Amino acid sequence: MHQAGGRPAPHGTIRGFEPRDAAAVHRIGADTAHFGDPVEAIIDDRQVFIDVFMRPYTTHCPATCWVAEVEGQVAGYLTGCLDTAAFDPLFRRGLLRAAGRLLAGRYRVGRRTLRAGFGYLRELASRHPRADLAAYPAHLHINLSALFRGQGIGRRLMLAYLDQCRAAGVPGVHLSTSERNAAAVRLYRSLGFDVLHRYPAPYLSTVNRQAVEALIMGLRLA
Ligand SMILES: CC(C)(COP(=O)(O)OP(=O)(O)OC[C@H]1O[C@@H](n2cnc3c(N)ncnc32)[C@H](O)[C@@H]1OP(=O)(O)O)[C@@H](O)C(=O)NCCC(=O)NCCS
Repeated sequence: MHQAGGRPAPHGTIRGFEPRDAAAVHRIGADTAHFGDPVEAIIDDRQVFIDVFMRPYTTHCPATCWVAEVEGQVAGYLTGCLDTAAFDPLFRRGLLRAAGRLLAGRYRVGRRTLRAGFGYLRELASRHPRADLAAYPAHLHINLSALFRGQGIGRRLMLAYLDQCRAAGVPGVHLSTSERNAAAVRLYRSLGFDVLHRYPAPYLSTVNRQAVEALIMGLRLA
């Protein structure tokens, strides 16, 4: 169904994440992690990606995660937190646990995973610019299954989360992306986000084997 002007009419529901959504959210995250394509382009075993980059949000910040549901199916998600400084130690704990599993041989490891691990270590060791957490304490990630993109769902997920941040008195939100995520950058700019920093991204450049510039974008809410 389309509205006048050819834009699809809003459909589906934007609602808070529930524990029963975890498997679908993790799957969509892994299916879309590499510029909208499956994470297997850069990591051999998607479970590494899920344990490191997805589970910390769905386990520790369920109240600030959102899903889009279309005809009973999870179409996409937004994972976020309100306080990055409080979230970081939980993230690092997940990272260490995953490193332990890796050493114990519980993940499938090939050249892609080794390259990604090396890139991530470079990222951690680098002095790249970061968002000022006093001004922009909250952060988010947003990903939709390919079938549901371009229908206004991403914007509605963002608005739900930004309303939640405002209601909680959060002064600002930041996120990381790249010009390669052209749709995402347009969405963020249309919501008022500005580029805070640009830098040659060690992790993205390593896994892509070519220079990739990362953007840190921010939106002030108060
Ligand atoms: C980025 C993403 C979340 C946007 O969600 P979406 O539901 O597709 O976007 P919407 O339909 O709500 O569109 C919102 C705005 O995004 C921009 N946009 C969406 N699709 C676009 C496209 N294919 N090309 C350019 N801009 C696009 C437009 O500015 C659009 O506003 P407009 O329709 O008024 O012009 C979604 O496309 C996605 O999950 N992409 C793959 C994963 C990804 O890149 N995640 C972000 C990582 S930082």
